[in-house]
Amino acid sequence: MNIKDFPMLTKDIIYFDNGATTLKPQQVIDKIVDYYSNYSANAHRGDYDISFKVDMEYENARKKVQKFINAKELEEIVFTSGSTESLNMIANGFFKNYLESNDEILITKSEHASNVLPWFHLENTNGCKVKYIPLDRQYYVTMENVRKSITPNTKVIALAGITNVIGDERPIKEICKYAHEHNIFVVMDGAQYVPHRKTDVQDLDIDFLAFSGHKMCGPTGIGVLYGKKELLEELEPINLGGGMNESFDAPSEVYFKELPTRLEAGTPNIAGAIGLGAAIDYLEQIGMTKIKEYELHLRKYAIDKLIEIPYLDILNLEADSGIITLNVDGIFSQDVAYYLNKYNICVRAGNHCAKILKNEIGVKNSLRISFYFYNTESEIDDLVELLKNKDKMRIEMI
Ligand code: ALA
Repeated sequence: MNIKDFPMLTKDIIYFDNGATTLKPQQVIDKIVDYYSNYSANAHRGDYDISFKVDMEYENARKKVQKFINAKELEEIVFTSGSTESLNMIANGFFKNYLESNDEILITKSEHASNVLPWFHLENTNGCKVKYIPLDRQYYVTMENVRKSITPNTKVIALAGITNVIGDERPIKEICKYAHEHNIFVVMDGAQYVPHRKTDVQDLDIDFLAFSGHKMCGPTGIGVLYGKKELLEELEPINLGGGMNESFDAPSEVYFKELPTRLEAGTPNIAGAIGLGAAIDYLEQIGMTKIKEYELHLRKYAIDKLIEIPYLDILNLEADSGIITLNVDGIFSQDVAYYLNKYNICVRAGNHCAKILKNEIGVKNSLRISFYFYNTESEIDDLVELLKNKDKMRIEMI
């Protein structure tokens, strides 16, 4: 990895908002520009050379995703606009038909809106119930609490692999094993997990997975829905239209294509998929294990310094990811973010779309620092120096 690969990092900024989106290396940008400049045609429709090239590149990107998450079948990879769309497709295309009134969906209060609202919608429309696995004192999910929360009515457990505020990694493999012994499906929101961990869907044995390209050096507007093939076969397309149909003549005579095309109606985000393929190449060149180790190193480096600042309340001291969430005693988190912005440091403040987390932890807003592999110790030093000076913070906020 070369810092110079990232045009945004030549702009004198310190970018610590990788939980929201990541920066893009030139290799990804070039790949997208190459598509628009040199073979800009539609996919799966043309009978001419550049269109064949589009099909080849688009399907090649699918193969890269398959290998990246170790899916068994290529058909198990569906391109979507991002984690949010994937989770909505899972809830409305599969579980809406599968769940019956009084069936239970287990989530936690630290889920992102995209892994809460689709399930709330099912409760509102289907009569099934959303229930919460209690978090422990550090706001983690424990197997003990999972076991205690399961009832004979539990049909699905939907959890982030790593949460976007607390940054805790869940014991997904163990949860899947236990859930499957009880005929329960497991959905993983992988938005904060897949970009930072070596993901092996077969080893984890998850039933469905959702993740976004833009949080892993890829473009915005592209994401992935993974599902075990036999389950995806049962997932009804939410979007009907061009590309996904085999033939139609009348309402009673509509035939869909096979997976995965059946679930990709309309012209797909071709540039996005190809760009995501390039992002995967980039990440694989570094190695996902190295990325994880480096992020944990940065976390430890930062925590060792931040812990010395007495007026900081760090919400997730022990979390096992590159996410550090804190508050400065007596100062609103957004004001701290504006103060850091004066020094070109980008962090996120607020509730981070995890709007029911406050009901569990009693803290409504916080400042989130989230690392990726291109961050450095010296950037952390700059952040710590600024946070150390509360008087300066107060004066400069005015
Ligand atoms: N889900 C993104 C975040 O956590 C936007 O910031």
